[in-house]
This record gives sequence, C-alpha cells and structure tokens, in this order.
Amino acid sequence: MRMLLRIVGVLVVLSLIAGAYFAWSLNHVAALPTGPVTSVAAARILLKPIPDGPNAAQLRQGQYLARLGDCLSCHLRADGDAFAGGLGLNTPFGVIYSSNISSDPEHGIGHWTPDQFYRAMHDGVDAQGQHLYPAFPYPWFRNLSREDDDALLAYLKTTPPVAYQPPGNELFFPMNVRASVALWNVISLPPQPGAQTPQGASPEWIRGEAIVLGPGHCSQCHTPRNPFGADTRGKAFQGGLLDNFVSPDLTGNERTGLGRWSIDDITEYLHTGRNTRAAAGGPMGDVVTYSTSMMTDEDRHAIAVYLKSLPASADADSTAADPASIKRGAAVFSDACTACHLENAVGQPTLFPPLGNNAVAQQNDPTGVLHIILAGVRVGPSPTRPSPLTMPSFAWKLTDQQIADVSTYIRNSWGNRASPVTAADVAKLRSKLQLDEARLTDNSGDH
Ligand code: HEC
Ligand code: HEC
Ligand code: HEC
Repeated sequence: MRMLLRIVGVLVVLSLIAGAYFAWSLNHVAALPTGPVTSVAAARILLKPIPDGPNAAQLRQGQYLARLGDCLSCHLRADGDAFAGGLGLNTPFGVIYSSNISSDPEHGIGHWTPDQFYRAMHDGVDAQGQHLYPAFPYPWFRNLSREDDDALLAYLKTTPPVAYQPPGNELFFPMNVRASVALWNVISLPPQPGAQTPQGASPEWIRGEAIVLGPGHCSQCHTPRNPFGADTRGKAFQGGLLDNFVSPDLTGNERTGLGRWSIDDITEYLHTGRNTRAAAGGPMGDVVTYSTSMMTDEDRHAIAVYLKSLPASADADSTAADPASIKRGAAVFSDACTACHLENAVGQPTLFPPLGNNAVAQQNDPTGVLHIILAGVRVGPSPTRPSPLTMPSFAWKLTDQQIADVSTYIRNSWGNRASPVTAADVAKLRSKLQLDEARLTDNSGDH
C-alpha cells in the first residue's frame, strides 16, 4: 500500500511538472510595441495564389490549413523568413524556440515523410521519435484528418527552403527531459470536436466547433488551465491567463464575454482585428494577422455561430471600489487616456476601442488591463486593415498607484463593473514583465 501511495505521489509530482510545461511553455516573449515584431509581410505567402497543376487542389487545401492553424504566429521570428521558425517562447524555465518547418531538407522538414509529419501533428513526436513540447499545439492539431496533414505537408514542401537553424532550447532540468511530456499527453489532452455536439446541431455549428477545437486551437488560450495544464472542466472558454495576458471569456456573459456581441461583430473582429466594441492586440493580434484575417467568410461565420452558442459563464462577485481611488483614476484617465479613447471613453469606432461595456476591461482577473497599460499594445494588422494602431506603454510615465487607480476607474465606469485593482497588483506585474521602460519617441515629453 505504501509503495502504491509512493508511486501515485511520484506520478502526481511528475504530472504537475508536465502541467507546468504547458502553462509556461506557451509564453510568448513580451514585446513592447517598439520592440521586435514578427514580419507581417512574410504572411503574404499564405495568400500567394497556387498555380493550376496536377496536385493544385491538395496544395490549396494545405495552404488554407496553414492559415487555419496559425502556423506563422510561431514559426516566424522578427526579420526571419516564413516557416523558418526561431521565435523564442519565453518561460520561467528558459526559452523554447519554434522549429524550422520550411522545405529545407537539412534544417526544415523537406525530407519528412507523410507518416512522420502525421505523427508530429497527431502525437507530438518528432522525426527522431522525441516528444515535442505542447507549446506546439498538437493537442488540437491532432483533430485534423490524415488527408489534412498530408495536404499541409505537401504545401509546406513547396515553401522556399530556408537554411537556418533555430537556436537550441535553453531549458534546464527537469524541464529539458522531453520524455515527461508523454505523461502530460495521458492526462491533459483537451476535448475533441464531436464529443459534445448537441443533437440537431447545424452543419455550420459543427464546422465552427471543428475549427475552434481543432486547428484554430482557440481554447489553448481562452479556456482556463487546471494545475495539470489541462482545460479546466466545466469552464470551457471562460477566459484564460497566459503570458501575463488575459484571453477573455468568450461565452455569452454580457459583462465579461461575448453576450453583447452580434455574429457580425465577431466576424468583423476576426476579419479586421477591430469592430465598434474592441480591438485585437497582444497574442490575439497575431491570431488575427496570421490566421483569422485569412479565413473564408464562411469559416469566420461558422466560428461566430459556434461561439454565440456557448452558455454564459457565472457572473463573479466584485467588491466595491474605494471612491477616493475612482476620483484619482478619473483624473489620470482625463490626462493620459482621453486623447485616444475620448471623454467618457466612447472611443472612435474601429480605431480606438470604447471602454464602456468593454469585456477586456471587465475580466475578473485585471492582469490583461494592467498588461495593456504597462506595456502598451498593438492591434494586429490584416490585409483589409494594414495599420498596426498602437497604444503606448505607460510604464515609464505612471506610478503603480496611478495605474491601479485608472484601472479601477475604467473597470467601474460607463456601465462597467469589476473588482478594484491595488498598487501591489501593478507592482507584481511590472516586475514580471521586466519591461524596458522605453519612451516611444524622442519628443514624448519626459527628457
Ligand atoms: C503556439 C505556437 C505554435 C503554433 C501556432 C504552431 N507551432 Fe509548430 N512548433 C512550435 C514549437 C515551439 C515547436 C518546437 C517544439 C519543441 O521543440 O518541442 C514546434 C514544432 C513543430 C514541428 C516539429 C518540427 C521538428 O523539426 O521537430 C512541426 C512539424 C510543426 N511545429 C508544425 C506546425 C504546423 C504545420 C503549424 C500550423 C498548422 C504549427 N506548427 C503551428 C510552436 C507552434
Ligand atoms: C495565443 C492566445 C490566443 C489564441 C490562440 C486565441 N486567442 Fe482570442 N484573444 C486572446 C487575447 C489575449 C485576447 C484579448 C485581446 C486584447 O485585449 O486586445 C483575445 C480576444 C479575443 C476576442 C475578443 C474578446 C473581447 O471581448 O474583446 C475574440 C472574439 C477572440 N479572441 C476569439 C478567438 C478565436 C475564435 C480564436 C481561435 C480561432 C482565438 N481567439 C484564439 C488570445 C488568444
Ligand atoms: C495613443 C492612443 C492611446 C492612448 C493615449 C491610450 N490608448 Fe488604450 N488603446 C489604444 C488602442 C489603439 C487600443 C487597441 C489595442 C488593442 O486592444 O489591441 C487600446 C486599447 C485599450 C484597452 C483594451 C480594450 C480592448 O477592447 O481590447 C484598454 C483597457 C485601454 N486601451 C485603456 C487605456 C488607458 C487606461 C489609457 C490611459 C492610461 C489608454 N488606454 C491610453 C490607444 C490608446
């Protein structure tokens, strides 16, 4: 019995470690808007027409799957070439670099067989038989069919070969032991599409579910993780914390979720990164740039139909804010924020988001709002809206108390309601983000 308990104990510890992989291995490098950004021009490869030829249909399917799967968000580094990888995913235990998946036979996957590629996409095992970290979203990609994977590989083999070797991972023990991922796979794989499809669901809903739970891997960010790094049961799409960013609630909740959004609001956001309610920045900016802006209208509509069917999350209680903090916050807002968000935070439709009835502002966890104010944020550019509109960093300009006050103010004004924020919350995040307190321009007024 003691032996059994010991084995169970070791297993639990190992799975916690494996879970930790997941939580931290997804962390993208926090970049200031002035810092390196991945090359948007490189994404045009995904829109390059594929000439007619014997296997044109398969190659077109593969190219479209590369859009659905958001491959370039990760397999492209600043000033790098498409699919050559080398983007560092920052973690407390070191850095994981995305692989070169261009057609280069030596550094990329030009020599991979369809069987090897299927194994990577389905089981997260590379050509040498080593486990890949779940920062690579194979837990979702495994829902693609064999035919889809064959098409993706055929397409990737037509991309320009890039003779570039991404740096080796800089992980230290025990995170550098790839075999422990095997355990994670046993306990933590997310739900598969079809498992919960209601009877009588429309073909469009089914298509939406297949994208969201499959190649789109939306729940990787939008569903909260449990301590094992798996989706938290019963909390699907209720919002997750990743890379010190809050991926908001996407359920029907009217305050924190998409309850007030119409289907057209959602499709416009996915298409252009903007609508009259919000803007897509941070990790979502990349999703829009490299994936959803290049999907078909039908697929964006299917995603919206699926998301609008998610039942509203339970409304969390919020504690009342201190009136003195609100008053101080209003003054900071008027000074620092109204230039773009305007008086009463009405914003300018599709340019600067309104902050009233804004779900990002009202997430239960204020980390997202604080991240945006401290680090600044850039809207993901897209073919139809190419300008990466930017909100500057306020880290160098506002104190922890001022950022706490202005956050408490925006979270409790113009119809919003959410728990207040303390200066200690801000200080904690400030130290985690390790920001260069960059000033955006030489004449930004603080020299
Ligand atoms: C969220 C980031 C992310 C996305 C999105 C992503 N990948 Fe990756 N991928 C990675 C990382 C990180 C690795 C390296 C993992 C490791 O070293 O264990 C990787 C590794 C791989 C590998 C293994 C390569 C090798 O040499 O072992 C393949 C194949 C791959 N990705 C294909 C794809 C395809 C195809 C897509 C789009 C459908 C995609 N990836 C989307 C992050 C990502
Ligand atoms: C890498 C993490 C990540 C992935 C993957 C991701 N999202 Fe997001 N999403 C976010 C973040 C972070 C935000 C908040 C953006 C902001 O504050 O500007 C967001 C915002 C959104 C919003 C707007 C919510 C609001 O209230 O403003 C929608 C809609 C959305 N995501 C849908 C999706 C869909 C659909 C997918 C899959 C195709 C997806 N997301 C995949 C991180 C992600
Ligand atoms: C120079 C213009 C500018 C200024 C000044 C500015 N913002 Fe922003 N803000 C933006 C833009 C552009 C976005 C959209 C970026 C995004 O969400 O991806 C944004 C987004 C936001 C969001 C997220 C809304 C959403 O739907 O994603 C919040 C919250 C926010 N700003 C708060 C503030 C606060 C508080 C201040 C003052 C301390 C401020 N902003 C000052 C331009 C600005």
